[in-house]
Amino acid sequence: MAIPKETVEQILQAAHIEEVVGEFVTLKKRGSNMWGNCPFHNEKTPSFSVNPARNIFKCFGCGKAGDSAKFLMEHEHFTYPEALRYLAKKYNIKIEEKQQTAEEIMQQSIREKMFNINEFADKYFVDTLWNTEEGKSIGLEYFRERGYFDPIIEKFHLGYNPAKWDAFTEHAKKNGYSDELLEQIGLSIKGQNGLYDRYHGRVMFPIHSLTGRVIGFGGRILTNDKKSPKYQNSPESEIYDKKQTLYGIYFAKNAIAKQDECILVEGYFDVLRMHQIGIENVVASSGTSLTMEQIRLVKRYTKNITMLYDGDAAGIHAALRGTDMILSEGMNVHVVVLPPEHDPDTFGKEFSVEYVSNYLKENAKDFIRFKTELLLKDAENDPIKRGQVIRDIVETISVIPDSIFRITYVKECSRLLDMPEQTLTNELNKILRAKMKKTLGIEDNVVPETETTTVPKQEETVEEQLPAGYYQERELVKLLLMYGKEMIVDERIDEEGQRIYEQVSVAQFIIDDLKNDGFVFTNAVNKKIFDIFDHAIDEGPIPEGHYFTSNEDETIAQLAVDLLFSPYKLDKWDKYSIFVKQEENNLRNTVLSSLYRYKDLIIEDRRKAVEEELKTTENLDDQLILLKRKKDLDDIRMQINKVLGTVIVK
Ligand code: CTP
Ligand code: MN
Repeated sequence: MAIPKETVEQILQAAHIEEVVGEFVTLKKRGSNMWGNCPFHNEKTPSFSVNPARNIFKCFGCGKAGDSAKFLMEHEHFTYPEALRYLAKKYNIKIEEKQQTAEEIMQQSIREKMFNINEFADKYFVDTLWNTEEGKSIGLEYFRERGYFDPIIEKFHLGYNPAKWDAFTEHAKKNGYSDELLEQIGLSIKGQNGLYDRYHGRVMFPIHSLTGRVIGFGGRILTNDKKSPKYQNSPESEIYDKKQTLYGIYFAKNAIAKQDECILVEGYFDVLRMHQIGIENVVASSGTSLTMEQIRLVKRYTKNITMLYDGDAAGIHAALRGTDMILSEGMNVHVVVLPPEHDPDTFGKEFSVEYVSNYLKENAKDFIRFKTELLLKDAENDPIKRGQVIRDIVETISVIPDSIFRITYVKECSRLLDMPEQTLTNELNKILRAKMKKTLGIEDNVVPETETTTVPKQEETVEEQLPAGYYQERELVKLLLMYGKEMIVDERIDEEGQRIYEQVSVAQFIIDDLKNDGFVFTNAVNKKIFDIFDHAIDEGPIPEGHYFTSNEDETIAQLAVDLLFSPYKLDKWDKYSIFVKQEENNLRNTVLSSLYRYKDLIIEDRRKAVEEELKTTENLDDQLILLKRKKDLDDIRMQINKVLGTVIVK
């Protein structure tokens, strides 16, 4: 649910960056900043800096930067609302949720009720497992029999639902839960003789959300009754969306981030077993093929997925499903196939953690390679099947967003398939073109896939390609961010020739001046910031630094943090900076000179363009127009230089 804007403001202002970061990083004061070892990359000498005055952090090693919320999102892998809630709690700020519509309130209360009853059921199942005769002798015994130790049974809140037809339902009703809710959440089912337990006689697996709330259950049957399914699972509900859920994610997320890898298995027990032997970066897709939402969930923590599947044919084919989707998200996929008689559960039971880890390392196969080898084996020497295999593989390669990877895979597959590289490349281009046409509705104009088209441009050339006034434009943005709200004296001549003075904000001074003379920032982010101020001048209030460093637009936040950190850093453009120290004393002069330097460069650029045009213009009339324009530009430059001459800051 949305947190109101004012509260977000309040939270971000209350949060002290050095305190927030300080919980995770040891900081030492040096100058006006504080320094520590960066938690986002390995380093021995601190390049991670916190600026308490501006309430932002920045690592000069890896470039990560932002405000308190950003830090928590990066470090704790929180979503933005999660980060805000964390900060609100830390600083005792009550979050007044936004005025909700009647429908939202209804929805909210249904969700709350659902979480509530799940928690109630979870307690009941756990309690039944550990503290009742039936639970102990049947449920607990079952887990122990399969080689699970108590700590893991406790950690995952495994439970037991008695075999009696309506044991849980009755207990819940006695505690005031309505039939309707019990049925909605799926803990009970309505039969001819009233409500009965969905999971009677089963061991229970609660399914946790990312933040650890119980959103559903899976219950495994303990008899050999072939008429009932092995697992009964909660139906979907307002709080349980199967396509967004991965079993075990709550317990695995930290390990996934730390190890920068997520191991994907099929079943509940596979997750338990891996955790028991100490491999904790494991989640289960619960027997269905992966969805885009699940992949994005994993992507919050890592780009590397390893699929660990049973060694039987069904397991291997399960591995093939869903993988194109993972690849198309730009993630790296590896596949590990277990010996045919094993699944991760039995494998982890039979072997030591060292053996399992080694097996994973040694048998992890890049997905494309895995698929190629697998399909080739199926096709044997059947030429028609081979043709299909090739198309299939190339199709898979075509979903990979990064062209450099695509080329690498084409090379590799050309070797594996014993096909000329060019043939595969042609096939690939055909598919890419077709896709492009489909998505954009345009004609053939895909750049052919060759190595030369994908070589990244050299860094050095970037500077020369910068548009005129690039650094000055940034400098103006920096002034807006730092001093937009400050008042300076504007001096101008009114209609009667009188010199008048008035107080205006720096923002208004800059924006009005640029707008009057028709200057527009060329850089997209700078332009966005310009527009925000432009709007604020009329609508007020003028935003300050933190509004930008905490902006929901990542590009704005990143630029703002970079700019506000810059006085302490020799950035590329800092050497062009004409003010470093005395800026506050000479605010008006600083603003003026920045403004005019910027204009000067833009005008100079326009003048050059006119000169170029003159060289190629033959028509006399056109030449005259251009000459006039050149003269106008020269006049402006002269005026600019006059102003600059009077305000240059020493
Ligand atoms: N599954 C399910 N319903 C079924 C069968 C399977 O929801 N009728 C899901 C469960 O999430 C299960 C996963 O698919 O964990 C994998 O199925 P399977 O390998 O058969 O189950 P295991 O968890 O390995 O259980 P066991 O080892 O007890 O057979
Ligand atoms: Mn199993």
